[in-house]
Order: sequence, then C-alpha cells, then structure tokens
Amino acid sequence: LPVPRWVNALSIPKIATATSPDAYTLTLQPGRHDFGIGGPTTPVWTYSDGTPPSYLGPTIVARYGTPVRITWVNALPTMLPFAQEEDHLPTGAQREPMAAAPFGDAVTHLHGGHISDLADGGPTQHFSPGDSRQVDYPNDQEAATLWYHDHAMGLTRLNVMAGLAGAYVLTDPYEQTLNLPTGAYDVPLVLQDRSFNADGSLQYPERWEPEFFGDVAVVNGKAFPFLDVEPRPYRLRLLNGSNARFYRLSLSRPKAGKVTLQQIGADGGLLPVMNPTGRLLIAPGERADVIVDFSAFRGQTLTVTNDAATPYSGKPDKAGGTPPLPELLQFRVRNTAPSAVSGTPPTPLRPLSEKLSLQQAVVQRDLTLNEVLDPQTGLPLRSQLGTLNPDGSAHLLSFDDPVTETPRVNTVEAWNLINNTVDVHPIHLHLVQFQVLDRRPVLRDAAGRVTGYGPALPSDPAEAGWKDTVRASPNEATRILVRFDRAGAYVWHCHILEHEDNDMMRPLQVLP
Ligand code: C2O
Ligand code: CU
Repeated sequence: LPVPRWVNALSIPKIATATSPDAYTLTLQPGRHDFGIGGPTTPVWTYSDGTPPSYLGPTIVARYGTPVRITWVNALPTMLPFAQEEDHLPTGAQREPMAAAPFGDAVTHLHGGHISDLADGGPTQHFSPGDSRQVDYPNDQEAATLWYHDHAMGLTRLNVMAGLAGAYVLTDPYEQTLNLPTGAYDVPLVLQDRSFNADGSLQYPERWEPEFFGDVAVVNGKAFPFLDVEPRPYRLRLLNGSNARFYRLSLSRPKAGKVTLQQIGADGGLLPVMNPTGRLLIAPGERADVIVDFSAFRGQTLTVTNDAATPYSGKPDKAGGTPPLPELLQFRVRNTAPSAVSGTPPTPLRPLSEKLSLQQAVVQRDLTLNEVLDPQTGLPLRSQLGTLNPDGSAHLLSFDDPVTETPRVNTVEAWNLINNTVDVHPIHLHLVQFQVLDRRPVLRDAAGRVTGYGPALPSDPAEAGWKDTVRASPNEATRILVRFDRAGAYVWHCHILEHEDNDMMRPLQVLP
C-alpha cells in the first residue's frame, strides 16, 4: 500500500479534559483512527477522556506540586485490533506463573514518573475489561516530558502497537522563567512506525519476532505529516514511542544541509546547558526537547530525516534488515515577517539539582544484557538481563527469578550495564531519574568473559541531565548513578517492547 507523503496536516493530541481540577477518568476503549494512509480507517485502541477518543491518548498537563488523580477504566474487548495468535508469547509459557496476561488486560504506566509502587502501573498490575484503578501522581519532580503507555505482562508490544500511549507534560515555575515557547509553539512530536494492511488494519507479526519495524512514519498519529510553522522559535518535544525503532534525526534543508537543533531537555527535564546538535539520537522510550528557530527559513520546507539502521547497533550506517525510514515529517515555514520574539534560552539552562558521584555509591552492580539464540536455528529466542559471574561470564535471569536488585531507600548505587549483544538496548528504570556516569569499552578473554574495561569514552552533552532510559551499546559498559528515594516494588527493563515482553525485564525492590 503506497502511503502518500506530506499530505496530512500534523495533528496535535488534544489536552485531556479533567472531571474535576486535576482529576481525570481515562477509558481504554476500541475505536477507529484515520492515520491518513490514503485508504480505509484503522481499528485501534485508545484512551478516551469522554470526548470522542483520539489516537494518541489526550495529553495530560500537570504542574509541579499539584498531584494528579487518574481513574483508568478498562473497556477493551478481548480481541486485539489486529490478528495475533492465541499463544501470543511462546516463550512466556515457559516462565509460569509470569506468563503473558490475557488479551484485553491492560495497565497504564507513567514513564519517568516519580510515583509509589501502587500507582506505578508495572507489568504485574494488569487488570481485565470491566475493571478500573485509581492512581495518584504526586508531580514532585522537575518539569519534564513524561508519557503514559500500556505495560501489561507479555502484552506491552501489542497494546502499545494498538494505540495505548499518550504524553504527560509536567511544568514547573523554574521552567516558566526561561521564556521558552509555549502554547501553539510548544509541540509534542510522538514518533512511531507502523505498517498497514490493504483493509487499513495495523500489520504486526502474528508470532513474536525480536523487533518490529514499520514502513510508515507516524507522528502524533498521522502518516508522514507536515506542519505549517511561523518564522519564529518553536519548542519540539520529541518522544520515541516506537516499539523497537531508533531514530537518528536531522532537520534538513534541500541542498543546504542540516539545521542545528538546540537541545534543551531529555527524559527527566531540562539539560544543565543547551546542547547544539545536527543529529539527535533517540531510542524507544527516550525524549528529547529541542528549540528550533524557523525565522531564518522563511518560505522554506524543512524535512526531519532519519538515518538509523534497524536493528540499531550504533555502528554508522550498518545495512539494516528492513528499509530505514529516511523521512518522517516536514515543516513548512510561512513567508511572513518574523515575529519579534526572543528565542534563545539562557545558558546555563537548569543547574543539576544534585550531581551524583561514584564516591556516593554504596553498591556497585555489574549487570548484563544478553541475547539467547536457538541452538538449532541460530535465530533469537529471547533477550535477558542478568548479573555478572565472578569469572566474567554472564548469569542470565528471567523475570520471575528471585529479585537481585535490592537497593536500600535513599542510597545511591552505580549500575554497570554490560551489553553482551550486537545491538543497542534502551534500559529503563521505573521510579527514578538517574545520571549517566560513563561508557567504557568492555575487554574480554577468548571465551568472551569480561576481563576489564578500557578508558571511558567522551561523554555526550545530550546526557548531562536526568535520564530514565539509557542506551547501552554493544561491547560497552554504560554506568549510571541512581538514587533510589522511595521504597517499593518496581521493575527495570529494555524499552524495545518486543524484548521487554520476552523476558528482558527484572524486578527492582527498593528496601525500606
Ligand atoms: Cu516506558 Cu516500564 O516503561
Ligand atoms: Cu533490548
């Protein structure tokens, strides 16, 4: 099905309608959505605030210090809006009792939220159609672009593919002093990739495959959209809501090269200083907040391009197994007089509220990222997290193996994420925002056992702020510093949803 490009106006997800101040009822329900693919509309699942449901879910706008209460109501059917075999997670069956939830079960997680474990919406908290849950989000963290999405055990890739995701924008008084673009000039851009059947339905493999890559770029629910912009600065909140696709983004002008993006924020909020960059790498689950001043490009068309191969190994331009998505979105800059607005945020932007150091870490954990291949076929069976044995070999662990990551509340730990696979994995911890300490090459013996580390690679200014999802590259050890400041039962996992659903997830128990 050839999908037309640059004919759909970008839609901006509507702001959620509250039932009373800062209280929302969001109903998970089936519907149909027009992705603008030039064919029939598409059966989807979405979140409805009572107004006609939209894809994506409505954006929740929250303020620092003011809790938000949400009642999640499950009104889903027990059949997905696309074909899927009943035994939808073959390897899940091998890990009873943590097998995949039944179709129609769901649970919503607030990604990046500093929240109690009861409100976390972790994988074991899924509930059935007809049921509901009420949760409170304290909003006691810095202004940031968070997002909510489904997290049901063994179903996350399917429920998110069906449409269960939305943005959650947290503001605070400090951010408001910075004179950043607001209102119509503050635009969330939720990046997804989808594939469609001729009847308009979503196309997704009926059996588990190690990663899903769609051939249609979908931004805020529209295929290859365009946005008319004024010649002035905009704030673009990029959120990678794809199942498995990484994006390495540039803003390109025809025959005139790349536009410099001014990155001001990442997962957990604003960066300490602005990061000017021509190429923005964003993995599933990550966010990047950028300022683009369109005033220099009156009358021009700018295209958001992507050159990340699939699966993403980090190696430049490795040929991918599926065609890349080279173009996502166009900006058409109006040829009107530029408005007289200031657009350059101050430097420094937002000093870190606390700079964590290795000396503070009371525990250092060596953790491994592994891929399990079928010995017969050599094909991937599943991915797994694990620990490191004293001899440098990996000890693989399933989700339902006893918990091994048990930090004490209010302590700092250093987690050394050793990637034993050939691809990059975005590792996400619930509850916390953490800091990236360093990345070191992994030294190995002939049997592949870890023997040590090379010198740290140069740090990336895009990662100088608070993070909740970090890219762990092949043959590197990515060290993060984490303060666990709330006791409870959480999880940590890879945010490639096909990995997360197939055992690349572990419990995280913060002890009182
Ligand atoms: Cu965005 Cu545990 O997930
Ligand atoms: Cu992974």
